[in-house]
Amino acid sequence: MKKIFELPIEEIEKQYEYMSLVRAYTESKKAHVLTFGCQQNESDSEKIKGMAAKMGYTITDDISLADLIVVNTCAVREHAELKALSITGQFKHLKEKKPSLIIAVCGCMVSQEHRKNDLKFKYPYVNFIFGTSMLYRFPEILYTAITSGKRAFYLDTGDEGNVPEGLPVKRDSSFKAWVSIMYGCNNFCTYCIVPYVRGRERSRRKEAVLSEIKTLSRLGYKEITLLGQNVNSYGKDLYGEEYSFAELLSDVCKIEGDFIVRFMTSHPKDASKKLIDTMAENEKIAKQFHLPLQSGSDSVLRSMNRHYTAEQYYSLVEYMREKMPDIAITTDIIVGFPGESDEDFEATLQMLKRVEYDNIYSFVYSKRVGTPAASMENQVSEEVKKDRIQRLIALQTEISSDKNSEYLGRVESVLVEGRSKTDDTKLTGRSEKNRLVHFEGDDSLIGTIQRVKITKTETHALFGELVK
Ligand code: 5AD
Ligand code: SF4
Repeated sequence: MKKIFELPIEEIEKQYEYMSLVRAYTESKKAHVLTFGCQQNESDSEKIKGMAAKMGYTITDDISLADLIVVNTCAVREHAELKALSITGQFKHLKEKKPSLIIAVCGCMVSQEHRKNDLKFKYPYVNFIFGTSMLYRFPEILYTAITSGKRAFYLDTGDEGNVPEGLPVKRDSSFKAWVSIMYGCNNFCTYCIVPYVRGRERSRRKEAVLSEIKTLSRLGYKEITLLGQNVNSYGKDLYGEEYSFAELLSDVCKIEGDFIVRFMTSHPKDASKKLIDTMAENEKIAKQFHLPLQSGSDSVLRSMNRHYTAEQYYSLVEYMREKMPDIAITTDIIVGFPGESDEDFEATLQMLKRVEYDNIYSFVYSKRVGTPAASMENQVSEEVKKDRIQRLIALQTEISSDKNSEYLGRVESVLVEGRSKTDDTKLTGRSEKNRLVHFEGDDSLIGTIQRVKITKTETHALFGELVK
């Protein structure tokens, strides 16, 4: 039987009531939201900002002015957790200066019992925490904190999670938008904490997704990125085999407007030929695919519970390139997974050479409390991990640099995002293939798509001139 994850409208209406109650306490108050981790977290933070704005807060980038600070955390690797905890530690001084400051911590990290306890006992100036499935209850939780003055620790309810619709959103950009199409993950890769902190897979109704995108298109958004931990299993919980991610994508492309569509992340075991065909057929879909490999060794893949072999992965890449010869392919790689031998690591290097990725995101395996891999006995030493990640990056740097040099002389469509952070004489943007492109131009071009002729290439960026 299908389970309905979407929250009843009354639940959301109740939160709107809390939003108006909080307004009585927020005159000339400011809120700052700090985000760690993936695009899903960025998207959640836009909802937190949306709710805060509805509650009367002005959103500020200057943390020293804030009356409310929300830290939205990540738990995928220990490094991200330690960073969030260390920054939260620095807020102690802000609280001493302004005792009325409210500090909240939310997101994936706090959805783990041991981290909840860290925050409860070692960070007494944190007012409240709330787990990922409590996001929609932020107004109620904040109202309770303000009116009771008590600290509170809301972990997830232990159910499979929910789908909130109709929350206010304050987007960071007026031309690039995230649209979550599903939440959670059912895959339980043995290294990964996500299924434990974000619950089971649950899709948004297609009508809700399509109507959000119609509105974005009407508002002039130029790039829409569909988000999910595994977008390829979109719809299975709601529609069975009747309506898949490929169908959703093709319906998104039918929406009127001058925008491009991206999506992430795809699990190779679920990426279908139909999805690849849909991409090839639709001009609106950027010819760029993020397909996490994690390891090139079949035995490591098995131990990671990934459900594909390196050969099956490669045949997917071949099919993509057959249908879209110039597609850009990127991936995630973990080095130093328990039991990874020199030969296993060599197999990963071989896959990098074989696929010739446009770019990779590489990670050193990080033990996550409660995941099967954390208690595997054959952990790899820090020294070996360090050596492997350096070799991996060195190889990919060569490949990326060669790949980028192929763009010399080509004309690329670029969505202009702003001034370059390192050289303010230049504008910077992303090409359809998601390459960083720098070129000279006027501020009025920000938020538009421009044609740029590439005149110089580096490993991580392209440089060019506007084509009039
Ligand atoms: N250690 C290192 N990297 C990890 N990832 C997920 N869990 C871990 C972990 N425990 C990486 C995977 C995933 C990406 C988002 O983060 O490569 O695709
Ligand atoms: Fe984690 Fe695997 Fe789910 Fe991705 S597919 S979120 S790596 S469990």
